Amino acid sequence: MYSAKISALGCYVPPGVLTNADLEKMVETNNTWIIERTGISERHIAAPEVATSDMAVEAARAALAQRGIEAPELDAIIVCTVTPDMFFPATACLVQNRIGAHGAWGFDLVAACSGFVYGLTTAANLVMTGMHRKVLVIGADTMSRIIDYTDRATCILFGDGAGAMLVERGEAGEGFIGHKNEIDGSGGDYLKMPAGGSRLPATRETVDQRLHYVKQEGQQVFKYAVKKMYELCRDLLAEHSLTGEDVALLVPHQANRRIIVSAAERLGLPPERVLINIDRFGNTTAATIPLATRDAVQAGKLKKGDLVLFAAVGAGFTAGANLWRWAY
Ligand code: UT7
Repeated sequence: MYSAKISALGCYVPPGVLTNADLEKMVETNNTWIIERTGISERHIAAPEVATSDMAVEAARAALAQRGIEAPELDAIIVCTVTPDMFFPATACLVQNRIGAHGAWGFDLVAACSGFVYGLTTAANLVMTGMHRKVLVIGADTMSRIIDYTDRATCILFGDGAGAMLVERGEAGEGFIGHKNEIDGSGGDYLKMPAGGSRLPATRETVDQRLHYVKQEGQQVFKYAVKKMYELCRDLLAEHSLTGEDVALLVPHQANRRIIVSAAERLGLPPERVLINIDRFGNTTAATIPLATRDAVQAGKLKKGDLVLFAAVGAGFTAGANLWRWAY
């Protein structure tokens, strides 16, 4: 087996901002409640003409530029998203064509908020077999397209954005250490977009009943997320004879500040070793982890050789934790 390392990172967030004050004018809510219950102050929202592939392309180009390579060097592209431009073709195909990654194959990965963690695990495995040298993992979601802005329980949570990490062959001891990923479909009803698929195709009624929007039973998801984020991190560390003490930085999915703080406390991680940027971006689904990692790198919180733990829980339920040694 070869080693797989993360060698570059690129992000894109649309310039439009939706603040808590804006939301106060749209639904019965208030800034204090949103901050206390979620930690979110504002989110970025894509302009109407911008789709998921547009943001994914920007993030991809930024990652390639940072690494100083051209798109034809890519062997595979994985786009983690629940808001593809359309059902098919896959957003990975649209991105491949736009960036000119001739010779790459790829696919979309549907794991909601755990998408990027699953994408990293998948890319690491593709590289570690020796059959791929460079795999681009993109997390991109235009959540604003599937959010009901009359539902105060969900519309305050989500934002739009994209991030990409390049996973490539590394030297022994660099990069990917291990993962602990799970799905638990018994939780599938707690967070979903009910209509638009083969079970409930789009009809006038499904539109009238607002079934093409995110529906969430927040407390059920919250309870599962608090438990799973901690358990998977704990078990992954234990499997490698590590504890929270060894982790330089936890970069968790940003769904709710309270979920992150709870997991970090139980892992024994002090606040300075946990990246939280939910205040500025909200929950961008598959994009939260690259966006948070970018902030960590820019703030000097993540340096070459550091042990970094990525963790996420999302619709499905899906959940995962990945342990990497940061390589640049
Ligand atoms: O990334 C994918 C995974 N998703 C998550 O991890 C999300 C997990 N869930 C959560 O983050 C939280 O459950 C929410 C932030 C969605 C909700 O917070 P909560 O503390 O669980 O609130 P709640 O649903 O129990 O509601 C408490 C109260 C209710 O009022 P009553 O029944 O006590 O009178 C709600 O109607 O807060 C009310 N409420 C609001 N009030 C002001 C719900 N949404 C709002 C709002 N503004 N936006």
